[in-house]
Parts: sequence; C-alpha cells; structure tokens
Amino acid sequence: MNDKVVVIVGATGGIGSTLARKLAAAGSKLVLVGRDGKKLAGLGADLGSSSFLTIPTDITDLSQVETMAQKAVGHFGRIDVLVNAAGAGVMKQFNKITPEDIDNMLDLNLKGSFYTCQVVANVMKENRSGHICNVVGILGKHPMAMASAYCASKYGVVGFSKCLAEELKRYGIKMTLFYFGGVDTPFWDNVSLKVDRQKMLTPQTAAEAIYFAMMAQPGAVPTEINIQPDSHLFL
Ligand SMILES: NC(=O)c1ccc[n+]([C@@H]2O[C@H](COP(=O)([O-])OP(=O)(O)OC[C@H]3O[C@@H](n4cnc5c(N)ncnc54)[C@H](OP(=O)(O)O)[C@@H]3O)[C@@H](O)[C@H]2O)c1
Repeated sequence: MNDKVVVIVGATGGIGSTLARKLAAAGSKLVLVGRDGKKLAGLGADLGSSSFLTIPTDITDLSQVETMAQKAVGHFGRIDVLVNAAGAGVMKQFNKITPEDIDNMLDLNLKGSFYTCQVVANVMKENRSGHICNVVGILGKHPMAMASAYCASKYGVVGFSKCLAEELKRYGIKMTLFYFGGVDTPFWDNVSLKVDRQKMLTPQTAAEAIYFAMMAQPGAVPTEINIQPDSHLFL
C-alpha cells in the first residue's frame, strides 16, 4: 500500500481511524474525510505521517463530496482506493421510527455513500483503475429486529454497489463489500439496544479485513468479506 492514495470517509470513526493508522504505517497517502475538522486534524497529527490531507465534508451534500474529490486529486493527483466507513445506526421498534429517523438513515448511509462512490468512481475511471471498499455491515444482507430503517439503508447500499461493480469493472475498478457483525466502536454509544460490546469484533479485525482486500493481486477482486463475532451479542 506504499504510496497508494486512499480516501477514508468516516476516518475519525472506530473502523476508519484504525484503518488510517494501519495505512499510515504502510506508507499510504491518506485523505481523511468526516464532518468534524478538529477531530480529523487530531487524527492526522496522531498518524506520524506527512502524507495526509484532511477534508471536512458532510457526505449527505453532493456538492461537498464533489469539492472533497477535487481537493484530493488537486493535492495527490489521483485516488487509488475509496473506503466508505461513515454511517450511523437508528435501532428502534418499527412503530417508534419517525420520518426524521428514516431520512437520517437514507441520507447518510444510503445517499451519502452513493455520492462518494459516484464522484470518486468518476475520478478512478479516468485512470482506468481503482478500488472501492464499502463497509456495509451484516445488516445489509440479514434482517434484525429493531433495525428496519437501518437495514433499509444498508440493503440499499448493497443494491447500488453491486450495480456499480458491474458498470465499473470495464474500467478496472474493483468493488468489495464488507459484512461485519457488531464492531466495538462509538457507533454503539447512541444505540439503546442492550448489547454486550465486549463480545463484538474489534476495530482492528475490521481494519485488517479491509487492508487484506486492498492487498489483493491486481487481477483478483475480493467481492465480499463476511466476519461475525463467535458469540451472541444481546444481553
Ligand atoms: N460498529 C459496528 O458494529 C458496525 C458493524 C458493521 C458495519 N458498520 C458500519 O461501518 C461504518 C463505520 O462504522 P463505525 O463503527 O466506525 O462508526 P463510528 O465509530 O460511529 O464512526 C462513524 C464515522 O462516520 C462519520 N460521519 C457521520 N456522519 C457523517 C456525514 N454526514 N458525513 C461524513 N462523515 C460522517 C463520523 O465522523 P463525523 O461525526 O465527524 O462526521 C465518523 O468518522 C458505518 O457505515 C457502519 O454502519 C458498523
């Protein structure tokens, strides 16, 4: 991964920041993306790598995503890998979910990652190479009680990603989908379900899997990676 230009969306999150540290140690050039500029700067300062750029961006706004990609290319000249690791969870019984909850899930998890894929794939297309890593989660392919709005957004991510994979392979752009079970990150701080975070996967496990996919041989596409914790998570 030395010298590869990697855009991490959700770079300050549990999974994104762990991956950022791993890639910085490998010599990658990092574009760190999230809404909170101070957190991004703090992460960058921690990396001990001079090859990073922080771009505060709200991915629910297409124009901000376009500006982010322009700045990344302006600085590093290209984008080799896009990691979509931004997202949030609303976990409530079906009749407690408000229109605002549905909008939040669809705007961030579904439309936000659609915009980043759409804009960055257009950049990669010019270079006829690239790799998009979408951190979907297991709730993008299996249902769970209390997760109807979240699952709706994540099943949607799987739908558009698989279509994009078909459209993009002719340009040498790979797509990998990651279906992790529960990962112990700040994602769960605002979720009211009673879950045992000690039994979850670690962010290191998630970051290792994403790194593994990035390291695939040029002609090989790891299309999907599934990793589950070995025990039941609910208290
Ligand atoms: N944790 C799990 O159990 C788990 C399991 C499977 C899949 N996933 C998925 O993995 C991804 C990362 O999860 P995580 O556990 O690392 O979550 P996390 O620790 O809560 O981090 C979320 C990240 O998303 C960013 N973000 C939120 N809203 C944003 C917006 N509008 N624009 C740009 N960035 C935004 C946050 O930064 P700012 O707040 O500064 O914007 C933060 O960097 C999510 O898509 C999640 O659904 C999580």
